[in-house]
This record gives sequence, C-alpha cells and structure tokens, in this order.
Amino acid sequence: MQDVAIGIDARLAGSHQGATSVRDPLDESVPNAARRYDHWLGGKDNFAADRTSGEEVRKRWPGIVTAVRENRLFLGRAVRYAAKERGIRQFLDIGTGMPAVENTHEVAQQIAPEARVVYVDNDPLVLVHARALLTSRPEGQTAYVEADLRDPDRILEHARQTLDLGRPVALMLLAVLHFLPDLDQAYKVVRRLTAELAPGSLLVLSHGSYDLIPPDIAWRLTHETYPGRDDFFPRTGDEVSRFFEGWELLDLDDTGSDGGTRLPGIISDWGPGLRTSNEVIPGPREVSMWGGVARKPS
Ligand SMILES: C[S@@+](CC[C@H](N)C(=O)[O-])C[C@H]1O[C@@H](n2cnc3c(N)ncnc32)[C@H](O)[C@@H]1O
Repeated sequence: MQDVAIGIDARLAGSHQGATSVRDPLDESVPNAARRYDHWLGGKDNFAADRTSGEEVRKRWPGIVTAVRENRLFLGRAVRYAAKERGIRQFLDIGTGMPAVENTHEVAQQIAPEARVVYVDNDPLVLVHARALLTSRPEGQTAYVEADLRDPDRILEHARQTLDLGRPVALMLLAVLHFLPDLDQAYKVVRRLTAELAPGSLLVLSHGSYDLIPPDIAWRLTHETYPGRDDFFPRTGDEVSRFFEGWELLDLDDTGSDGGTRLPGIISDWGPGLRTSNEVIPGPREVSMWGGVARKPS
C-alpha cells in the first residue's frame, strides 16, 4: 500500500472499526469523486488512480483547479452569509467531500457556535474522515449520514434526528448534482428535499458546466478517453436554473431577492463583499460553474 496517502492510512487505522457492511472504501484502483477533488485542492487524502484521473482532466482543462478552489470559496461565503445575514442555524450538507478548508460547521459555528450540521455522503471513506475531523463545538452538533443523494427519504429521516425541519435550514448541494447521470431524477431529488424545508430556508447549490469553457476544451473533455470521464455530467445554465424553481434567487451581490426569475450566476461572482482575501476574482471562463443561493418564500 505504498501509494496510499498517509492521511487516509493513519485515520482509517483508528476509526474504521466495525464498518464491515459498507463497500470497501480502500478500493484504490478506481478514481473517486471525493478523492480526486481533494487532489485538485492540494490535499493528501487520495490515491494514485484519483491523482491520475485529476491530472488527465487538468491536462485538458487547466482551469479545473481554479474552478474547484472557487467552489470551496463559494461554500464558505454562502455559509457565512446564511449564518450571519439570514440567521440560519441548521445546515444539511449533502456531498460533503473530504475535509478541506472552511468546512461548513467551522464557518457556521464561528458565527453561531450552536449551529447544527448534518453531513451526508455516499462514500464511506468521506464519512470516516468527517467523523474524525469535522467535530462540532460543544454548543452545536454535527452528525454524519452515509446515504445516497438519490435516496432523499433516507436523508430526511436521518436529518430529522439532528435538525428541526420546522425551522429554516440551509440545504447545501455543492458540486454533487453533476454526479447524477439522470437529470430528471436530480430535479426530483431536489424537489423532494426542498419540499420538506420551512419557509426562510436557503438552497445553496453549485453545478459543473462546460457552457463557458472554450469549445475545443469541452470537446476534449467530452470525447477523449481518460479515467473518470464518465462520472461527471456537466449541465447548462438553463438546466441548473431549474433546480431553483419556486425559490427566490438572492442577488449575487447579496442585496436581496430578484424574485427568482433569472439564471443562477457563476459562483465566483456571488457575494464579492463576503470574500476574506483580496485575491483577483477569476473570470467566468476559468470557473464555469453555475450556482446560487435561494430562499424559500413564505
Ligand atoms: C466534488 S465533492 C464536493 C464536496 C463539497 N460539497 C464541496 O463543494 O466542496 C463531491 C462529493 O459528493 C459525494 N457524492 C457524489 N455522488 C453522491 C451521491 N449520489 N450521494 C451522496 N454523495 C455523493 C462524493 O463522495 C464527494 O464527497
């Protein structure tokens, strides 16, 4: 197991007891969404197959690293906004990913220590890491659910054990819906989850797209053969906007609602005032991820 990143090996040794009924999280031969993302973010929790797949994508589209980094920054800004400006104290974060900078509970609990976060992922290895590292402040609570996004009833059943769904919740669906091959199913899942949430809840969503990257790069990413190509389903801005149907998209500059009538934006443009550093904001072509923050109307 020479190739196993130290982070994975060491943490599994201490925390994987008893998880005999799940699929083998140490199958390192197949690239995996969470670990490849971790590689792009500069993390150590990935295997050779994940790195190879990540590099094959990067070779075709160097912007991928900027895109995933911007996605993480969007997550941080959206959670800060939810907790600070909208008073949200409950978060349902589906497609958690490997622990990275600005994890949802850390950002939320900096503002509101009593915030509660339910982390959901279908990758048992992600959950092992989450349990070990994404630990709550004593005043709040974090819970970890191994479930597939395509099973929203199971997610809701578990979420209810930690969250009061009668009060507003921020539903976080960041960089996860593009792993569902069936778009109609993805819409159904989001509708099922959002139907259960109280007015005033927020939907924070980001989704990969090839809309804005140069057509020759999009062609290479779509048609050339490389590991991991077939687990990603980019969608257009119009397609992504349908996830927000019935909700009020909050303005990209945080000044209020525009009534939910327009497309979501490019995530890097959202909430410029919430950025914590003065780094140059990358242009839409470098990011090419649609997303937004929307509020459930009363
Ligand atoms: C690219 S990472 C995104 C992590 C984090 N949400 C972020 O935006 O930084 C995608 C995560 O979604 C998880 N995932 C992919 N398909 C899923 C599914 N059908 N159900 C639940 N989680 C899924 C992966 O295991 C991975 O941890």
